[in-house]
Amino acid sequence: MASRREKSGQSVLGSRIAVAIGIGILVGCVCAFLFPHGFFSPPNPSLQSRRLVKSNLQIDSSSCDSSERISMLKSDIAGLSEKNAELMKQVRELNDKLRLAEQGKGHAQEQVVALDKPHEAGPFGTVKGLRTNPTVMADESVNPRLAKILTEVAVRKELIVALANSNVKAMLEVWFTSIKRVGITNYLVVALDDGIAEFCKSNEVPFYKRDPDEDIDSVARGGGNHAVSGLKFRILREFLQLGYSVLLSDVDIVYLQNPFDHLYRDSDVESMTDGHNNMTAYGYNDVFDEPKMGWARYAHTMRIWVYNSGFFYIRPTIPSIELLDRVADRLARPPSAWDQAVFNEELFYPSHPGYVGLYAAKRTMDYYLFMNSKVLFKTVRKDANLRKFKPVIIHINYHPDKLPRMKAVVEFYVNGKQDALEPFPDGSDW
Ligand SMILES: *[C@@H]1O[C@H](CO)[C@@H](O)[C@H](O)[C@H]1NC(C)=O
Repeated sequence: MASRREKSGQSVLGSRIAVAIGIGILVGCVCAFLFPHGFFSPPNPSLQSRRLVKSNLQIDSSSCDSSERISMLKSDIAGLSEKNAELMKQVRELNDKLRLAEQGKGHAQEQVVALDKPHEAGPFGTVKGLRTNPTVMADESVNPRLAKILTEVAVRKELIVALANSNVKAMLEVWFTSIKRVGITNYLVVALDDGIAEFCKSNEVPFYKRDPDEDIDSVARGGGNHAVSGLKFRILREFLQLGYSVLLSDVDIVYLQNPFDHLYRDSDVESMTDGHNNMTAYGYNDVFDEPKMGWARYAHTMRIWVYNSGFFYIRPTIPSIELLDRVADRLARPPSAWDQAVFNEELFYPSHPGYVGLYAAKRTMDYYLFMNSKVLFKTVRKDANLRKFKPVIIHINYHPDKLPRMKAVVEFYVNGKQDALEPFPDGSDW
């Protein structure tokens, strides 16, 4: 894995150099075309006179003449640097595509290796288990209408999906405005009522209104936060069955960069964390002390802060769909439970007597890139270095005053208002 990463890094570097040389040659050609006699040779009289005819004929002093030529050169240079910027943008886009292609190739190789006929283990240190499960075969008959929408909206078979009813309209507006601002086009609002459908339509936000389904619709209309959260696992299933990867997003999230440039795509579920430092986000050995056990007083336990079920990337695989089904099924039955707790229990509890755990691959997202509001308000805003760093998203998951904090995040990160985050306490005041 590590060696392949390096190799792909090298090839990206190599192709960047190649592209840079290409740009050099191209800019040289453009210059040669515009200045066939070089920058410093005497001006071509015919060209010069033609230009002078075009400009003001009455003024004919040599100083004006040269200043005019300078301004012409300046505008030529401006034109060239514009072209250069355009080319640089294309290079960036091509590099992105290349990186994605390399990534895809890597996953495909891993799958072939793992799914191939039985094979011997390689030498020490070279053995890698299967982490990237194969995607399911897409089945359009599940929902042809949604399939059509997804063909139009998704990019490389992936998109952001949010569920919204009229209770969250104000947050939804901040949400899609931030998404549009960073140029993301592959996102879709699942409108749970007519008000939100209308709102999306009038703001040119891609949306999808489900076919009537009494079971689900009664929850969608009147449902509180947690009930609607349970619904999303049922609705998501169709997206995966249609063969799409979904970046599920709550609406109390502000986008500052395109998240699709920052995913690994090597796991069934890649999720943001509720953790706030390396230990809590990525897992640690929490030692439990029981002094009366004497020599064996220390019991080691494994701990990790929960994954945030309001922002995760899920690939269309069998374990992913099994996860959605397990969570939806448990939320539909008593005892009533918090969807995020259920989501994590299903993901992490191992098989044991009387229980078969889920065999899904999981990855924790970088908590500085995919930042929760505890990290922002408790740590980042008070640290001169961390303040300068731009996250990919910020999720106001830890605070009940979501809308004002979302707006403050936009003020701070987008409009550069340095004191925008100051009025808020670290936690909520109750
Ligand atoms: C936290 O983890 C990251 C990468 O996983 C590492 O680069 C960094 O040094 C760690 N920070 C601390 C304080 O251990």
